[in-house]
Amino acid sequence: MYVLFNSKMSAFCFKVLIAAPVLLVSGENSIGCYGDIQRLQCDTGLILVKSSVYGRTDSHTCNVNRPASQVANTNCAMRISTVADRCNGLRECELKTDLLGNSDPCYGTYKYYNTTYDCIDGRLSVTCEFCSSTLDCGEGTIQIINANYGRANTRTCSHGVPSSLTQDTNCYAPHTFTNVAARCNGQRRCIVQALFTLFTDPCYGTLKYLTVSYTCIPPTREIVTCEDNNAELSCGVQNIKIISANYGRTDSTTCTTEQPAGHVSKANCYMSDTLKIVKARCEGKSSCVVPATNNVFSDPCPYTSKFLKVVYSCV
Ligand SMILES: *[C@@H]1O[C@H](CO)[C@@H](O)[C@H](O)[C@H]1NC(C)=O
Repeated sequence: MYVLFNSKMSAFCFKVLIAAPVLLVSGENSIGCYGDIQRLQCDTGLILVKSSVYGRTDSHTCNVNRPASQVANTNCAMRISTVADRCNGLRECELKTDLLGNSDPCYGTYKYYNTTYDCIDGRLSVTCEFCSSTLDCGEGTIQIINANYGRANTRTCSHGVPSSLTQDTNCYAPHTFTNVAARCNGQRRCIVQALFTLFTDPCYGTLKYLTVSYTCIPPTREIVTCEDNNAELSCGVQNIKIISANYGRTDSTTCTTEQPAGHVSKANCYMSDTLKIVKARCEGKSSCVVPATNNVFSDPCPYTSKFLKVVYSCV
């Protein structure tokens, strides 16, 4: 099987990279009666499960053709993580509930899966078996949301493939997420490969693929402004997001020009309201000017020459 597909690799090594729009959707809900499919879907963005409960908390949900004795107990709720583990980071997710393998929280009661989820901003990369893809955050850094090496539907990476190789859709390699996160988190670019040698083979004889969802954390900029000068923050068409800020002195090497040694020796001078003040002037704007003066911040350490240090990102 592997030889067969290696020889035709270029024919099916397509990959999909979808940059989801920023719009987020909150509080979607999905019910999956036991034995049916639990289906989650995000028209925009990627799935992030908020809560998932297996059991029964009312008598009218999933009660068709069920005897009263099976729907009477409405005090049965077990929190589970399997839906989140499998669906987080995907655009759509269909789970056969009878294959989720959760233990039985109330024997004799007919149960259902109740999952609420958000649709979040993020990117989804799909890599067919034997292929590789590059996750790319430009100037930002990668944060992995979720990853799976296996197969969860019959459609993905199925072009020109005998259908017998795509039928097992309950195929998950357990350590994919930790493996990919360890390789890629914090990097700007990261190459991922859908190879059974990198992950354990979760379903021998099935053609697998690697899904990786991730967000890009914007790069930070640092601006240092000596006392009595203006700090000018600018994000072009984007908006300023302040990460941290301090007016004071935290070392004896910054802003020392023409200063007597006694004015630059203090290294533990902090003005605790700096972040609040800078945020009020700059957060959400495309640019702003903040004077590094005692007038704006008050004086946290008299007779010390101070500077304003601001770390921000553009979002
Ligand atoms: C599903 O869970 C949500 C959130 O916990 C709850 O508000 C809702 O009533 C539940 N629905 C059913 C049918 O159990």
